[in-house]
Amino acid sequence: MHSDQRVALEKIRTVIADDHDDVGRRVAHRIAEVMRSRRAAGKRTVLGLATGSTPIGVYRELIRMHQQEGLSFADVVTFNLDEYYPMDPGSIHSYHRFMWENLFDQLDIPQANVHIPRGDVPREQIEAECQRYEEAIQAAGGIDLQILGIGRTGHIGFNEPGSGRESRTRVVTLDLVTRKDTAADFFGEENVPREAITMGVETILEAREILILATGEHKADIVRRAVEGEIDHEVAATFLQQHGDTTFYLDRAASAALTRIATPWLLGPVEWTACLAVRAVVWLSHQTGKAILKLTQRDYAEHHLSSLVARHGSPGALNGEVFNALGTKIRGRSKLPRGTRIICFSPHPDDDVISMGGILHKLAVNANQLTVAYMTSGNLAVFDHDVRRHLDFIARLAAERRIPEAAAVELQCQVNEFLARKQPGDVDTPEVQDTKRLIRESEAVAGIQTLGLEERSARFLNLPFYQTGKVKKDPIGPADIAIVRQLLDELRPEMVFVAGDLSDPHGTHRVCKEAVEHALDEYVAAGGTRPEVWLYRGAWQEWSVTEATWLVPLSQEELRLKIQAIFKHQSQKDTAPFPGPDEREFWQRVEARNKGTAAELDRLGLAEYFAMEAYVVET
Ligand code: F6R
Repeated sequence: MHSDQRVALEKIRTVIADDHDDVGRRVAHRIAEVMRSRRAAGKRTVLGLATGSTPIGVYRELIRMHQQEGLSFADVVTFNLDEYYPMDPGSIHSYHRFMWENLFDQLDIPQANVHIPRGDVPREQIEAECQRYEEAIQAAGGIDLQILGIGRTGHIGFNEPGSGRESRTRVVTLDLVTRKDTAADFFGEENVPREAITMGVETILEAREILILATGEHKADIVRRAVEGEIDHEVAATFLQQHGDTTFYLDRAASAALTRIATPWLLGPVEWTACLAVRAVVWLSHQTGKAILKLTQRDYAEHHLSSLVARHGSPGALNGEVFNALGTKIRGRSKLPRGTRIICFSPHPDDDVISMGGILHKLAVNANQLTVAYMTSGNLAVFDHDVRRHLDFIARLAAERRIPEAAAVELQCQVNEFLARKQPGDVDTPEVQDTKRLIRESEAVAGIQTLGLEERSARFLNLPFYQTGKVKKDPIGPADIAIVRQLLDELRPEMVFVAGDLSDPHGTHRVCKEAVEHALDEYVAAGGTRPEVWLYRGAWQEWSVTEATWLVPLSQEELRLKIQAIFKHQSQKDTAPFPGPDEREFWQRVEARNKGTAAELDRLGLAEYFAMEAYVVET
């Protein structure tokens, strides 16, 4: 297909990179290119910068280029988009702190060249501060290259829905969705500031070149809206369509809803593959509200799919082929492995039961050699009140002389004293961190026992990258990989399960997947046989029936058992500390998703199951 046709609906130039790191590299290289060409012309570069999880990869690459390639920032001037209000620049939550920790501290940029709106000015001085910020940008000669992320509301900077095209630097009220999305970093939505100071839409559009970035499945819908939708002040990012030099950098996941990716046949002729044919027929079935086997020539013709029918000879042949392709994905217990060495890698204690509780039970019944490897302790996500309650229980046992009293009372005193003076965001003492870890370990064991696994199937890897005590984790390192590798060497798995939902609030799933991938590569290079890798999802989203390699049916009893196993993770129930933007508890999400997958197959005219889990086998 001609490339112009493919991108016909896209009103912003769009580049689809492989993954988060690839986006980071490409954007960093463009920044370096602009810096070098301006330097060659004897000019300094003015960069507009963003915070958030998306540009972290860009900053990592810039630091690498500075350290290894001598890229200097000595003459670079920067302006950040925004800062929370009120916000002390020294706070762990401030964007000042974020920028210094993640970028500036590791470059040769002079402090005087860095500009970030101040969140600590008195309210009556905000307007003057905003005015000063605008003037400073002008005085620097305007922004040469602006980096942007996009929020799920479509905000750029903190220009929330309703922000006008003409808006300039000002104080804004944060949208509820935005506050929920950042709640995890603040240890609860109630701690997220209600306001922020942000550059306006007009301020942003005055930049000579703009690079906007989005990664992850959770951004796919808003990306489509920004790139293909009408310009609308409800979605500030749509104003970028009016900017002459904007490029949108996406990873594959964030590009998934663009028409050229989701339904390319609507844009013109396509190269039909078996996989695309399945997607098109499932899509058509949705459009028409008909089961696959009832789709007619007319349905195909009316929806730009005649060429697909032509390839298969008749609608009946095509319908049958897709119906069978979906049907063969269904794997009940009799088609699942027996007597096989299997590792389920669970990023946090609970991802195992939330995402694959159904299949874990079936695999246990099939007498496989199962190990659930919990990669992090998840201690960060335990409320302080749960620590108090567990220690109270121990103190009561001690008071009744069931266990020695002195040690129990001492621990309780130490912990309670610390918790009484703890501020949101303070790093827990080792006693508190350990208690939280143990709470989650005992919940994890109870969870898998509910599914018929034995206590010894649980292995707690406690990967070092997670042990910062803070929401911000270290990048994955050789020590993490070595621990995973050791487990592979010991167990020699024939099959492994890995979390494939990469939009968890802090990116821990992505990091854990990286650790397994590196360890597997090393293991295979050292002569180990590569196990089959099954990717699961569940806590944050689920694979669609078209994406899934295998669909595993669950009966009502099996789904109930799975939910009971999830209930064992009591510290994450009712209100989890890091629930993400979804209002529902994890078990409710699981119930809806598993029943939803089954209902989808039913709608397509296949068999009617009670519930289903979905898996993608990595090739
Ligand atoms: C950050 C900013 C925001 C973020 C956006 C996406 O300075 O202005 O617009 O870019 O909220 O955040 P992440 O990257 O964390 O998804």
